[in-house]
Amino acid sequence: MEKSDTLRKTRCSQSFSEGEYAMQFGHFDDARREYVVTTPRTPLPWINYLGSESFFTLLSNTAGGYSFYRDARLRRLTRYRYNNAPLDSEGFHIYVKDGESVWNPGWQPVQAELDEYVCRHGLGYTVIEGKKGGVRAQQELFVPFGDNCLLMRVRVRNDSKEEKRISIFPYVEFCLWDAMDDASNFQRNYSTGEVEIDGAAIYHKTEYRERRDHYAVFWANRAPDGFDTAREAFLGVYGSPARPEAVFGQGCTGSIAHGWQPVAAQQFDLTLAPGASETILFGLGYIENPREEKWEAPNVINKARARAMMARYAADAQFDDALAALSAHWDELLGHYQASTGDEKLDRMVNIWNQYQCMVTFNMSRSASYFESGMGRGMGFRDSCQDLLGFVHIIPERARERILDIAATQFPDGSAYHQYQPLTKKGNLDVGSGFNDDPLWLIAGVDAYLRETGDFAILDERVPFDNDETLSQTLLEHLRRSFRFTSKHLGPHGLPLIGRADWNDCLNLNCFSEQSGESFQTTGPSEGPVAESVFIAGMFVKYGRAWTDILRHVGLVDEARMAERAIASVERATLTAGWDGAWFRRAYDASGNVVGGCECEEGQIFIEPQGMCVMAGIGKDTGEAEKALASVKERLDTKYGIVLLQPAYTRYRLELGEITSYPPGYKENAGIFCHNNPWIVCAEASLGHGARAFEVYCRTAPAYIEDISEIHRTEPYVYSQMIAGCDAPTFGEGKNSWLTGTAAWTFVSVSQAILGVTPTLDGLKLDPCVPASAKGFTVTRLYRGATYHITVDNSAGVEHGVKSVTADGKTLSGNVLPPAAPGAAVDVRVVMG
Ligand code: BGC
Repeated sequence: MEKSDTLRKTRCSQSFSEGEYAMQFGHFDDARREYVVTTPRTPLPWINYLGSESFFTLLSNTAGGYSFYRDARLRRLTRYRYNNAPLDSEGFHIYVKDGESVWNPGWQPVQAELDEYVCRHGLGYTVIEGKKGGVRAQQELFVPFGDNCLLMRVRVRNDSKEEKRISIFPYVEFCLWDAMDDASNFQRNYSTGEVEIDGAAIYHKTEYRERRDHYAVFWANRAPDGFDTAREAFLGVYGSPARPEAVFGQGCTGSIAHGWQPVAAQQFDLTLAPGASETILFGLGYIENPREEKWEAPNVINKARARAMMARYAADAQFDDALAALSAHWDELLGHYQASTGDEKLDRMVNIWNQYQCMVTFNMSRSASYFESGMGRGMGFRDSCQDLLGFVHIIPERARERILDIAATQFPDGSAYHQYQPLTKKGNLDVGSGFNDDPLWLIAGVDAYLRETGDFAILDERVPFDNDETLSQTLLEHLRRSFRFTSKHLGPHGLPLIGRADWNDCLNLNCFSEQSGESFQTTGPSEGPVAESVFIAGMFVKYGRAWTDILRHVGLVDEARMAERAIASVERATLTAGWDGAWFRRAYDASGNVVGGCECEEGQIFIEPQGMCVMAGIGKDTGEAEKALASVKERLDTKYGIVLLQPAYTRYRLELGEITSYPPGYKENAGIFCHNNPWIVCAEASLGHGARAFEVYCRTAPAYIEDISEIHRTEPYVYSQMIAGCDAPTFGEGKNSWLTGTAAWTFVSVSQAILGVTPTLDGLKLDPCVPASAKGFTVTRLYRGATYHITVDNSAGVEHGVKSVTADGKTLSGNVLPPAAPGAAVDVRVVMG
């Protein structure tokens, strides 16, 4: 241990200092399950996701954003310019023209000062309201459950004492469907744009004349006083959304787009007596027609389905009903897990926002957010498998479907495509395979599904390999190949080979990229025979055990025994070659050198293997697990969360790859990567450390850091992928909000590890691990069709340990409740002690 004396102890361990400045840009409204943004000048656009099935809209607090159908790259309805200045100026803006004054209820893009502003982001809907010069304008937006459209209701009210003549202009800019092509292939695209006008509806039908069988429609529920469909007519050739010529000048021109940039803009002239108000309903829909029904006349698109859609939302009452149905839908979904803990921040995370984010990550994987362009990554194999962990209790049927889609992108040897496109469900060849943790995540996802549902029939489903039906095998066989892939790819120390990368996409031990612009993952000999991952070793032990439990459940006991031998051998290697003396090492590089050990100059300790190996139970009985977590606390803790590694890398290292490409404190180079903080929560809880588990949980949980929004900058209601670490000049600043595995893992950590309600293959296990000061709480949990009302009594004031469990008054032996009959309501009392 002398070597550790040379270790730079982290300069990160600081605690919240008194009087640190607090700044919020809104507040939670738990009764309405909303975040209420009270200024449009948030540190970054704060967005919401509308839609949770096939039609989606990203919408910011100033009405920026875009819509797409299923796939943000291949079926994008409206444009969005990432990395633009001014920021966030495309979207679903409404212009109000009141005499000479032009403004937007959401402030953007005109940015005229408002007298009042509020934005309520709720579950699947957003309401933005602004007031200026005695006029109040509100836009309410949502995607109705079961339909492919965005609905928007605009209400304008004259709060002044004089009659007002005002004009309202909605405006959206169409995307020519393939967002990548739309942003690059201008020599073609400037000639393809086509629209049709029919009453109050503007149809975007670019490419419908040839191979597309879909179009978009923007409509109003009443005839407009004007319209434009050519962008340059509405904005002006050198105009901008901040100063549309039609709005600031003489009104809409009736332009028809021929090529260039098709848009939908309309004008409504209103005369409002004092106190009077008007409401207009708008929609943006996506319609697909069967090929043989494409046209209603030569070159005239068949609008029957669009007309039916418009008729569904033509009146206020229909709009209200659809909104009420959406709210009821969320009531039902969130009702599957509800806690009442006496800590309002904890309750709002568990009951509302964390589960909501789990739905979004399940739908989007890492494809479309304000940080993910929708054009780059589709569905990630490991990402989507992990997203299932936090989603499976919400809609198990959709989890089932997803599992089968993901498994179909696995190769016959058990490896997998790293990503696939949501529309085609085909593996992405550009990235290919070779990320050696991927196969084990499939076991993790299926295991979570089985524990939740008990639906073992899924294991008999026949699923293709490599999307090739002729290569179909049962899902059980897919899992077998996953397990086998790792057990057959061990390196010189008996630890799993890392391949292109493991969970940490940026630790590229077989890559050696020297030229800028090359991929860090896919350049060079990406599949070396030497570089090994201690993290995958931890996964192999954890999910290998899940696999052996499944095998035993289906009666394959001999195979389970064989698998256990393979697991035991990797566990031994982890405790020898993978152990550094006070923590788990991270890896061995392609030359066989240690990564994440005290002899390393930088990057001496990494968070990932500490979390994963302890969660796997490695070193639990022999003391290594305790030591590893103590080292995390001593060396990686900061006031804003646990950083990924220390000391940060200060120069690029060829043998480690992308991780060293980031300036110290950012991303995987010692950023607070929120995703693996909950691994430490679970690990701490597995050792019975309730206070520490909760402390780690709170550090990154959005509701607990709302008052540092000025520093954190991203939305205070959802997790971000990364918070700048203590080595960064912007310590505490969040980036990449929404689409992160943090959502699923924190839900697992808080609902299972802390509150202690964990589905197992045999039933619901009750094993809370809380701070001693938490004297009790309740959880209502829907599980396999029965509802459990669980009351936990911790008047003993312990952190961990269950003295007794009673179900409907009967004392249980042990702490696993066998599943009750579907429809049953079970009263459960857990006494800690
Ligand atoms: C990726 C994950 C990866 C993580 C750590 C994320 O951006 O989506 O797949 O595990 O980064 O590198």
